[in-house]
Formats: sequence, structure tokens, C-alpha cells
Amino acid sequence: MNRFKRLLQRQHATGYLRAGSAFIVLGLALCASPTFAAPMYDDGFGNGCVSCHNEFASGSGALHTTHRTQFDAQSCNLCHPSGGGTTPVLTYSSGAGGGFGCAGCHGQDYGETSPNSGNPKATAYGLRQVHVDNGVTSCGTSGGCHVAGSLGHPNPFPTLFGEDEVPPYFDPIFSNLLDPCSSSDEDLTFDLDSVGLDNDGDGFIDGLDPDCFVAGTPTATPTATSTATPTPVFACGAAPVGGCIAAGKAVVLVNEKKPGKEKVKVVLKKLQSTVVQSGFGNPAAGTTAYKACLYDGADVLQGEYTVDQGGAICGALSCWATVSDKGYKYSDKDLSADGVLKMKLLGGDAGKGKVLMIGKNTNSTLPLGAAAAMQDETGGTIQFLSSDASCVSATLSDVKKADGVIFKGIFKP
Ligand code: HEC
Ligand code: HEC
Ligand code: HEC
Repeated sequence: MNRFKRLLQRQHATGYLRAGSAFIVLGLALCASPTFAAPMYDDGFGNGCVSCHNEFASGSGALHTTHRTQFDAQSCNLCHPSGGGTTPVLTYSSGAGGGFGCAGCHGQDYGETSPNSGNPKATAYGLRQVHVDNGVTSCGTSGGCHVAGSLGHPNPFPTLFGEDEVPPYFDPIFSNLLDPCSSSDEDLTFDLDSVGLDNDGDGFIDGLDPDCFVAGTPTATPTATSTATPTPVFACGAAPVGGCIAAGKAVVLVNEKKPGKEKVKVVLKKLQSTVVQSGFGNPAAGTTAYKACLYDGADVLQGEYTVDQGGAICGALSCWATVSDKGYKYSDKDLSADGVLKMKLLGGDAGKGKVLMIGKNTNSTLPLGAAAAMQDETGGTIQFLSSDASCVSATLSDVKKADGVIFKGIFKP
């Protein structure tokens, strides 16, 4: 019998947080101030996961409902301490019939024991990393709450398990979740994307994580496993690069007529080869960056726009979202990356794929000068590069305007 089922049967008496020990627990806690820890969903003062993910509160919010119904949570005590509605809901421990709190699904079994309850626990190392990668550093292992050797944490931290390590509640006893590599198991149908959890926090989700590749299929180079891979410099070529997917139709518009209201639009469509989603890399779960590169008729680079926001947050949401299984879309109202407001990368059969980028200078973030640099040009090339996947290219067949403040070029066969 595994230790979780034993725990399940132990009907453990919980004895929650005595104030003095509140700091020790190993949930994915917050400790914004050094005298305060919130290893619970809500400490009653709005501190805890609730401060960013409030849709469990009152037991009727969207996260509560979907967690319960979609994952077929068998017992209210998967999360609650002593039956439905009881609080505090701890991140790392819960009542009889469950035991592990949120970490039952959001953590993995590292064989650790809670210094608070003395019970086995699962630990959300991967989820902490997801937060750190999204700028929530209080969850981190350096400088954040979770420092090796302190507050009952092991020292050193263990080597992290892969995405394929099954969390304890992924078991028919507890829920209908089975496979941490499966988006169809894990994806909350109400959220924006169509993937589930990045259980190991390496930036690759579900089937895209090398840990999930089935033995026998070609193993991808595990570039995912963090640290010291030197990042090659990602830049527009001095001249257009070869080997890109050709677009069947293209438009480039750089309008720099009104100061403060400059605009750029790049559309490359009717992509001439079949493009699968991964042909664009993975900006939603991964770190793919993009560049639009504009060359003049002599193949000299005159304009460059960069969006390096893979996995980043724009406002309250991920900048990037998947578009079904076809591609990705980007939205950033703050225009923080080179003024770019929207991008759409859509794959499909040959002739169907499309790349779109729209930028505005209302926040003074759009690089300027391309319209002037392209003055009087009669040709040019527009390329769209991905940092780790294919590129798309078109040589302009017709320049409609190149008066020094507006440049408009198109390609059509
Ligand atoms: C300071 C804000 C903040 C707090 C506090 C916070 N989170 Fe998050 N959380 C985020 C952000 C940002 C993301 C990443 C964007 C997203 O996926 O929505 C995220 C993502 C997640 C995800 C999705 C992970 C994945 O693999 O897709 C889970 C699950 C989660 N948080 C659980 C928790 C839990 C449990 C707590 C409390 C222990 C917590 N969060 C506290 C901001 C926060
Ligand atoms: C996936 C975890 C999870 C499961 C499973 C779950 N809940 Fe909850 N529930 C929560 C969280 C988190 C809160 C918010 C607690 C807080 O605000 O302190 C909550 C709050 C509630 C509240 C409101 C409590 C209050 O004082 O505001 C009720 C009622 C409730 N849950 C009932 C249930 C019932 C009944 C079940 C089982 C049929 C259940 N829950 C299963 C996580 C869960
Ligand atoms: C029965 C398993 C299970 C339990 C228990 C559980 N979760 Fe989740 N939760 C999931 C799965 C699976 C997802 C992935 C949804 C996705 O990314 O589509 C998720 C997603 C989330 C998200 C991100 C939602 C989003 O917008 O993508 C948050 C936040 C979250 N859980 C918080 C919690 C908290 C807090 C608790 C404890 C009170 C908890 N979860 C307990 C399975 C669980």
C-alpha cells in the first residue's frame, strides 16, 4: 500500500496552524513580509493564493466549480480540512479522505513529511517554478519563501521530477485525473488555453514536455531542462536568411506620418507549406521569441521589431495563448515589446497558414525610422523569424508608397 493510501486511511487529526508554526509549512506559500506566511488559500485576511486566484472564494466561483466538477473531486476533503466549506484550506494538507490539499494535484511525492502535521506530503516544486517564471518570486527558492534548509525544507532541494511523475490525487480514488502528460485530462475547459499544468515547471506543458515523449519516438533534445545552455543571439540577419517558408501573399505597412501615432502592420499569408503549431515554436508554454525584419531592395536591414515574451504575462493574462491546435495569438495592451499590440500565428495545410503583427506607438515603444529608411525603395523583403522554429519570408513585388513617412509594400504573385 503506498503511503498516500495509508494517509488516506489514517483519518489524521489535523491540528492546523498554530501561529508559531505557520512559517514552517511547505505549501506554495507567500511570505511577502518576513513575519508572515500564508500556506493556505486564504488566511482570512485575503493573504494567500486568493490574492491572485480569487475564484475559489465563497465556494461558488469558477475555479471552485470547475475543480470540483470537471476533475470529479471525490471528496470535499481533497482540499477542505473537515468537510465541504470548512476553512482554512491549506495548500499542503487537508482532511481525511484526501490529505494533501492543493499539492495533491499541484505537487509531486518527493517522500517529504510535513514538519507541521508529521504526515506525508506532496511538494509543489514545479508550481513554485511556474510562479517564479511568471514573476511571482515570493514562491521561489532563492530570495523567496522556499529556501533549502530553512523552515523545514530539505537541504539541498531534491532533483526535480519530470512532468510525467504522477501527483498523488491523479488516481481514480480521488479524481478522474490520471495522466500528468495529458492535456485532455488536465485542461480546464473554461480557461483560455487548451493545455493543462506545467507540473514540473520547466516551461513545457503536457505532451510538449520531453519527459512525456513515449519511449521509441525520437527524443527531442531536452533543451527544457533549465540552466546553463548558452542562448544563441537571436537577431534579424544582416541580409534576408534563406530556407524560410514562402508566403503566397504579403503586406508591409509602416506609417510614421503622425508623431505618437506611428503604426506598423505585417501580414504574411497563404504560407506555401503545411505548418503545424510547433512550426511556430511555443511562445505560450515555451520561450519562443519573434522578429519581423524589413530589408530594402539591396537586401540591407532597415527595420526590426522584436517580441520576446514567451511565457510572459501581459496585464493579468499570459501574453500568448494557443489558438486551438493550429497556432498562437499575442495580445499586449501595454505595447511593451516594440509597440506590438497583436500577433497571430496560424498554421494549416499548404496555402492556409498566416502570420500577422500589428504595432502602435501610443506608448512610445515602437522602433521608428523604417519608413524614412525605405524612402524611394522600389522593392524589399519582409521576413518573420522565430527564435527556435521556422521563418516566413516574402520578397515584395510592388511598392505602393515610399514617401519617407509611409512605406507600403506588397507581395502578390
Ligand atoms: C502574486 C500573485 C500570485 C499568487 C499569490 C499565487 N499565484 Fe498562482 N499564478 C500566478 C501567475 C501570474 C500565474 C501564471 C499565469 C497563469 O497561468 O495564469 C499563476 C499560475 C498558477 C497555476 C497554473 C500553473 C500551470 O502549470 O499552468 C496554478 C495551479 C497556481 N498558480 C496556483 C497557485 C496557488 C496554489 C497559490 C497559493 C499557494 C498561488 N497560485 C498563488 C500568480 C499568483
Ligand atoms: C479543489 C479544492 C476544493 C474542493 C475539492 C472543494 N473545495 Fe470548497 N473551497 C475550496 C477553497 C480553496 C475555498 C475558499 C476557502 C477560503 O476562502 O478560505 C472553498 C470554499 C468553499 C465554501 C465557502 C466557504 C466559506 O466560508 O466561504 C463552500 C461552501 C465550499 N467550499 C464547499 C465545498 C463542498 C461542499 C465541496 C465538496 C462537494 C468542496 N467545497 C470541495 C476548495 C475546494
Ligand atoms: C483534483 C486535482 C486538483 C486539486 C486538488 C487542485 N487542483 Fe488546481 N488545477 C488542477 C488542474 C488539473 C489544473 C489545470 C487547469 C489548466 O491548466 O487547464 C488546475 C488549475 C489551477 C489553477 C489555474 C487555473 C487557470 O486559470 O488555468 C489554479 C489557480 C489552481 N488550480 C489552484 C488550486 C488551489 C488553490 C487548490 C487547492 C485549494 C487546487 N488548485 C487544488 C487540479 C487540481
